[in-house]
Amino acid sequence: MDNPSLPLVLVTHTLPEGWLDLLEGHCRTLNGPLDAVDLSPELEASLGEAEGLFCLLTIPVTRILLEKAPRLRVVSNMAVGVDNIDLQACTQRAIPVGNTPGVLTDGTADLAMAILLAAARQLPQANRDARAGRWKTWSPTSWLGADLSGATLGIVGMGQIGSAVARRATAFGLHLVYTDTRVHPEVEEQLGAIRLTLLDLLRLSDFVSLHVPLTSETYHLINEKTLSVMKPSAILVNTSRGPVVATEALVLALKQGWIAGAALDVTDPEPLPPEHPLYSLPNCLIVPHIGSATWNTRQRMAERACENLLAGLAGKRLPYCANPEVYDQD
Ligand code: GLV
Repeated sequence: MDNPSLPLVLVTHTLPEGWLDLLEGHCRTLNGPLDAVDLSPELEASLGEAEGLFCLLTIPVTRILLEKAPRLRVVSNMAVGVDNIDLQACTQRAIPVGNTPGVLTDGTADLAMAILLAAARQLPQANRDARAGRWKTWSPTSWLGADLSGATLGIVGMGQIGSAVARRATAFGLHLVYTDTRVHPEVEEQLGAIRLTLLDLLRLSDFVSLHVPLTSETYHLINEKTLSVMKPSAILVNTSRGPVVATEALVLALKQGWIAGAALDVTDPEPLPPEHPLYSLPNCLIVPHIGSATWNTRQRMAERACENLLAGLAGKRLPYCANPEVYDQD
């Protein structure tokens, strides 16, 4: 039986057994459904009482939502990206926002390499053809892809995930260039990565992998202009956020052969509706935002989100805070 004196925490989804164990005894929880895309009516009705919000990246945490939650003291996002949250509005309300960096670095970097390789070696097409009976012989000229060894990978955003991709890429013999707002001496010294401007990186790279957060600066970073300078043989990989790429420009670039292919874990819109033109393009590989989708990674994300939430309820600094400026205010 829940102790009514404990703070109420709204958990926007229903998560597997054990993932939220850390919360036990510290708060009362009210859960939304498994695959919630919005705050459920029951949770919405309890916003007035809620002191904590545990949410996933599909839930927009807007100023309007915050206004309905006058007692809210902490928002904990079970994701590293926080573009679903109005950070400024949270900061103004002195609400710290937690996120989960670190624990999903390897999982997401693995997925970036997986879809890069799949696109480079045409795995979706080859798999489809084999199943459809089009594997007639060992053909010297069918399903030919691109080599990784000796090619150049451009990493856009050398944060934790970008660096983890860089480490994996060197094992495949890729040369590295990167662009970032700051110099990363460790990847330069250890992996030989060279820092370039975005345009130079795009001109030079055989593969381009995006690892920037979605902000007003990175919105549509990849657009008609930037796509048009890429090599016609290049493959674009996006495991960051869909709106970093201007979707219509990408469709055009793929149709007209400005680039050879794309491998997308994230899209704009998301989910991508079944009738979307991107699905009709054989040179576009699409998976449904599964960068962190391993059991271990997701459970660790949930635990990290619980740690942030508990710290916020206890009035302590969040271990992983996306708006640290909240602590600099009076
Ligand atoms: C996943 O996309 C995340 O931001 O954690």
